[in-house]
Amino acid sequence: MGSEANSAAQTNSSTDRSASTDVVVIGSLSMDIVIRVPRLPGRGETLKGSTFDTFPGGKGNNQALAAARCGASVAMIGKVGADAYGQVLLDTLKDNGVNTNGMTKDSEQTTGIANIWVGPSGENSIVIVPNANNSMTPEYVSAKADLLSNAKVLLLQLEIPAETVLEAAKAARSKGLTVILNPAPAPETGLSAELLKNVDVIVPNETEAHLLTGINPTSPELAHQCARKLLELGPKGVILTLGERGALILESSQPDKPQTVAAFKVSVVDSTAAGDAFCGALAMRMAKGDSLAEAAKYGCAAGSLACTKAGAVPSLPRLPELEELIGSQ
Ligand code: RIB
Repeated sequence: MGSEANSAAQTNSSTDRSASTDVVVIGSLSMDIVIRVPRLPGRGETLKGSTFDTFPGGKGNNQALAAARCGASVAMIGKVGADAYGQVLLDTLKDNGVNTNGMTKDSEQTTGIANIWVGPSGENSIVIVPNANNSMTPEYVSAKADLLSNAKVLLLQLEIPAETVLEAAKAARSKGLTVILNPAPAPETGLSAELLKNVDVIVPNETEAHLLTGINPTSPELAHQCARKLLELGPKGVILTLGERGALILESSQPDKPQTVAAFKVSVVDSTAAGDAFCGALAMRMAKGDSLAEAAKYGCAAGSLACTKAGAVPSLPRLPELEELIGSQ
């Protein structure tokens, strides 16, 4: 308990535990150190960047904020260091109305960091140093599991230890939540069968889906094959995000009938957190009772809008922007 003595939970005791939560996110928080580059550098190369910024980020944090900005009631379970970056991340969650009772400032760790290069077309390369995110243990999640009571959807990613992700999925399932897994960053060793059995909906991008199935979803037919293979691994639903090609949705009740959602056309400035915006908006709509295809439309709109601004958290859209974009098509 020593390292958790500064628990942010103690500073946020206003939560009404009887109120229901739409989305709980268990995952990472990082400070993003972002450099704009004329092109992504090659091995051994020194390049001159044009701008340097720090932005709140981390896939878990981005997804929690995306869901909250889309109108969901959200609780975040995670860890930051007891440092200035950690404080900024906590403040950002609170400023966006996210319940931080599941958050801890770990005095033995520094806050997670992501070093991001953004190229001229908005493409990026990211290196993360998990720091406090690595101290998210299964026991920590168990200790915060009351936040899953009266909640509808659990949203997970893979920037915290795999055994913790599994514990979270099992705890959520036992309480009747819908479990959504965004398998990012793509795991080189694959995902455990036990985890996949405890996931309701998996939301990989093309790279992650290729890595998990061996099928590169470069055409509609291959995307369908790839999604079928993901269904065979356990989840009842697959949403394959395909960038400019939108998303493909496949459900175990109708494995021969893929549905598609078209992407929204936008000018891309920075694609960082587009996938997180998609997942946050998707989770919000699923908590409100939408079908996967309906919810994925909000996901596509949120992902597209996130590409139009620099940075992770600053680019996450709010509900009126989403509705305007959806209404314009
Ligand atoms: O998905 C985008 C996020 O990935 C960034 O905010 C960065 O922190 C990395 O985790």
